[in-house]
Amino acid sequence: MTQIVPPLLALDHISLSFKGTKAVSDISFEVAAGEVCALIGPNGAGKSSLLNVINGIYRPQQGTVRFDGHAYRKMDPYRAAHRGIARTFQNLALFRRMSVFENVLAGRNLHRQSTWIEQTLHVGRAHRDEAEQRRHADNVIGKLDLQGYRDAVVGTLSYGLQKRVELARALAAQPRLLLLDEPMAGMNAEEKHAMAEYVLDANEHFGVTVVLIEHDIGVVMGVSDHVVVLDYGRKIADGRPDEVRKHPDVLAAYLGTRH
Ligand SMILES: Nc1ncnc2c1ncn2[C@@H]1O[C@H](COP(=O)(O)OP(=O)(O)O)[C@@H](O)[C@H]1O
Ligand SMILES: [Mg+2]
Repeated sequence: MTQIVPPLLALDHISLSFKGTKAVSDISFEVAAGEVCALIGPNGAGKSSLLNVINGIYRPQQGTVRFDGHAYRKMDPYRAAHRGIARTFQNLALFRRMSVFENVLAGRNLHRQSTWIEQTLHVGRAHRDEAEQRRHADNVIGKLDLQGYRDAVVGTLSYGLQKRVELARALAAQPRLLLLDEPMAGMNAEEKHAMAEYVLDANEHFGVTVVLIEHDIGVVMGVSDHVVVLDYGRKIADGRPDEVRKHPDVLAAYLGTRH
């Protein structure tokens, strides 16, 4: 007997506009638990806006998002993080003057058990808690092969490494859903390959469900179980990578002469 497992994430008729300009029109799709879903489409198609709707940075005028059984239209980013949604941004959003370790440790803030006053006074469980968070941050740094940069100031690192630090910080939160906005943009082929491996590792070994935005169609075909294609704020295809790549609208809009 087949069991019907509800999707971890479902977008239901989401529409979003800015001062009357439609960014996203009537988008619905589902992401199953455990899958890697790629969101692709030309610049301005509405991809980043959708990630912003999922984790509550933008509030859609229409539609609802369902995550892990909870339906919402307005989710604040803080609550999204507590429910298990972590993300990275199209433009790096790291603490540039802080070390790699401090940045990754910041990803653990949700998991701190002690209160602010205990942390300030360094009493009671604050000590144990701090040690536990540091151990976890170092564990993620190790998994992403960042040990050699642990104490380096983030702003001094190459762009590709900073992208990896951002992934590490997101993973440090132990999310159930990881939203990655162009994690491989601006990377060379070798860096892209490494990043794809880290994302797949997180997916396979930590069971993190991933929604990622990526332009390199080769990367998309290699890493994703499911592809959703947007064009001018509308969904034009949704399916397995091999199905989507043959879709005539996709060939015209995305893989065709415009890209
Ligand atoms: N904060 C905002 N204010 C006004 N317009 C926005 C804002 N964010 C996105 N847009 C517009 O929404 C559309 C989709 O943008 P975006 O989601 O960034 O596309 P993509 O990530 O696919 O390149 C674009 O026309 C963009 O200019
Ligand atoms: Mg974008």
